[in-house]
Amino acid sequence: MINPFFITGLIPERYFCDREQETEKIIVALENRSHILLTSSRRMGKTQLIRHVFEQDVIKGKYYTFYSDIFSTSTLKELVFALGREIYKTLVPGEKKALSLFLGTIKSIAAGFSVDPVTGAPKVNLQLGDIYSPELTLEEIFSYLEKADKRCIFAIDEFQQIASYPEKNVEALLRTHIQAMNNCCFIFSGSNRHILEQMFSSYARPFYNSAKPLHLERIDREKYAGFVVRNFKDAGIRISVETAHYCYDLLDGCTYYMHKVFHDIFSYSEEGSEVTCDRIDSAIKSILEENTYVYGETLARMGISAKQLLIAIAKTGRASRLTSGAFVKKHALSSPSSVQKAMRTLLDMQLITYDIQGPKNEKVFLIPDKFLDIWLRNNYS
Ligand SMILES: Nc1ncnc2c1ncn2[C@@H]1O[C@H](COP(=O)(O)OP(=O)(O)O)[C@@H](O)[C@H]1O
Ligand SMILES: [Mg+2]
Repeated sequence: MINPFFITGLIPERYFCDREQETEKIIVALENRSHILLTSSRRMGKTQLIRHVFEQDVIKGKYYTFYSDIFSTSTLKELVFALGREIYKTLVPGEKKALSLFLGTIKSIAAGFSVDPVTGAPKVNLQLGDIYSPELTLEEIFSYLEKADKRCIFAIDEFQQIASYPEKNVEALLRTHIQAMNNCCFIFSGSNRHILEQMFSSYARPFYNSAKPLHLERIDREKYAGFVVRNFKDAGIRISVETAHYCYDLLDGCTYYMHKVFHDIFSYSEEGSEVTCDRIDSAIKSILEENTYVYGETLARMGISAKQLLIAIAKTGRASRLTSGAFVKKHALSSPSSVQKAMRTLLDMQLITYDIQGPKNEKVFLIPDKFLDIWLRNNYS
């Protein structure tokens, strides 16, 4: 029996849960030639949603879809390398004409790509060192996207990464190209809301106002519970809607964490058995035990102010006004200015994130790694 709770890799459509409205919204925006800025805290489901959108018939038939995760890139050269390789790999299985148009356009690096004459498999012999002029190659890549024989959608995941490249002009360079394009829409996505919002909503930045923002929220509580009950039932295992809600509430509706718990429980459940709340508690307990070492190491590597602030946020659950006198005093933090600094550190490390709430658009801080969140509460209160 296949485990219906996929926690790695591509999720087959049958095991993809909900996201109907978001899918629709993205498709409408793309059809109207908007670029999209897709954010959420880590592991809420951005990457899976992009894949899901690309699988829809309206998109699949009409567009070339490209997806690059640039998390591990740290220079413009690596970005160009990643984009070029993705286009090549996507085009190889398709029509020869499209591929030769690509290779004919990206002259500066074309020699790095070939097709195995026997198996027909794509071979990328390109080395980073072969990209002598990343700006020129980037121009060629965008020029290909403009003249491709179908419209293109390029998803660049973990896009905040470009903000830390050593080259100073990357944002402006990309923006200049993208602004001039008619044939390709971009989905910029990433978990670092802090950096991405600065990039896309500060007037002074090149990407200001250039993409339609979509912040991915939790999957609806009822829909998620329905998905859980149905998939256990298909395997002859009982679980009540209330028990599914219990897990949802404990883990604040964060997709991966809930899925991981149900994945583990499913792995050990016999047909005819029932999943109870106790079973959920014990599954979480063993996940925390497995992670204790990693969490301990993470804390050990942090400065004292960052550590204290992280613990204070874990204890509070959803914490606002971190630099207020009341918060600083209550948690015995050293000073508002040290909290401000620690907050930036934690945001950059993605150990905390924030929701925007209420009529005053107040930032409410939380720990996106729900297992770490519970672990901190268990260990420090
Ligand atoms: N719609 C979904 N249906 C089923 N599982 C999902 C869905 N969205 C996310 N997941 C689960 O959450 C995990 C993290 O999703 P992912 O898209 O990688 O998050 P993000 O890109 O936001 O960090 C997936 O590996 C999968 O286990
Ligand atoms: Mg992702």
